[in-house]
Amino acid sequence: MAVTPAPRAWEELFAARTRGGVGEGIAEILGLLEVPGLISFAGGFPDPRTFPRERASQLLAEFAASGEASAFQYAPTRGLAGPLDALAGRIEATQERRPADDELMITSGSIEALELTGKTFLDAGDVVVVEGPTYLGALMAFRGFAAEIAVVPLDDDGLQVDELERRLASGVRPKLLYTIPDHQNPAGVSMSTERREALVGLARHYGFVIFEDVAYRELEFGDGSLPSLWSLAPDVVIQAGTTSKTFFPGVRLGWAASPAPISSRLVSAKQNTDQCAGALGQRFFEEYVRRGYLDEQLAASKALYRDKRDRMLAALERTMPPDVRWTTPRGGFFSWLTLQRGDAPALAAEAVAAGVGIVPGSLFYPDGRGGDNVRLSFSLVDETQIDAGIATLATLVS
Ligand SMILES: Cc1ncc(COP(=O)(O)O)c(C=O)c1O
Repeated sequence: MAVTPAPRAWEELFAARTRGGVGEGIAEILGLLEVPGLISFAGGFPDPRTFPRERASQLLAEFAASGEASAFQYAPTRGLAGPLDALAGRIEATQERRPADDELMITSGSIEALELTGKTFLDAGDVVVVEGPTYLGALMAFRGFAAEIAVVPLDDDGLQVDELERRLASGVRPKLLYTIPDHQNPAGVSMSTERREALVGLARHYGFVIFEDVAYRELEFGDGSLPSLWSLAPDVVIQAGTTSKTFFPGVRLGWAASPAPISSRLVSAKQNTDQCAGALGQRFFEEYVRRGYLDEQLAASKALYRDKRDRMLAALERTMPPDVRWTTPRGGFFSWLTLQRGDAPALAAEAVAAGVGIVPGSLFYPDGRGGDNVRLSFSLVDETQIDAGIATLATLVS
């Protein structure tokens, strides 16, 4: 006899760590994107014009015609040897340090690297330090492991490392520190070299692990890159990267570079997550790197996003009231607005009603701060609509 529990009973069956809305934030953003005709500065999605459609279809035909099996087969948990080699070479070219074979693994997007790190390190109540504001997906991942999240603010030079040092000196003992040093999501700022050096010094001194998220690192608009935390201190840093913003997110491909003993634990954690990242995406990526296609795509993407950034900043300059401030990103997808009105969620609802999508700043803090902030993403919005969208927003904040 089939027994269907009453709806309330399901709630009682769900794990305690999943209560309290760990996943609603991102769903809300995706929901905003679905309103037809919206001028959306909401999601941090790449522009589909950067997608390598023709080359992807040619490569698939090549894989099929050559009779190669590996693109269609299960892959080793750490990743296929060829793609790992291509990735290590790329990391070496852009960060001046090549990860050893036992330091690098391929993941299913960088969000999986967060999940694997949480699974490997976090017991309920463990402390994770994040910069405030920070990437919503990271907050959700750490909350999913019932971690205690401590927020250290950032400014135009990234995480305030001196404030972190004060907290550490007063007894805060994190296992992990999560940071996005380059073109931060959501704030659009980058951490200064001095702070990078000071931060890795603190990790060594106090014995915590830095999780460096380099999702936007390669999308810099011409000022050059600063040294990655991992290249400064491969002994205390897990670096997670993604191909979602530079290649295409449909392949769900990322990586983690970390000290060998950590890497082997992450690989074990992956064995009972998804066992391996999709081999087809790995092989696409390998061929893209080896044939120089990725560099071509990256150059075109950077030009596109730089143009959109310039247009959006110019529109803000032209239309916003003098008491509104915003950050000037050197790359990536985002600028962060600070407003006089402190009700960003209400503003976001008004903006949608007026045909403009934005994300309220409070989604990027674990503790309700950010009410006077808004994240604007320039990556996906049609450039011909940027002026109109920002002008509409300006009327709402005035
Ligand atoms: C800072 C940051 N990290 C990680 C990710 C997730 O990337 P992936 O698509 O590789 O899971 C994103 C995507 O928006 C991001 O903004």
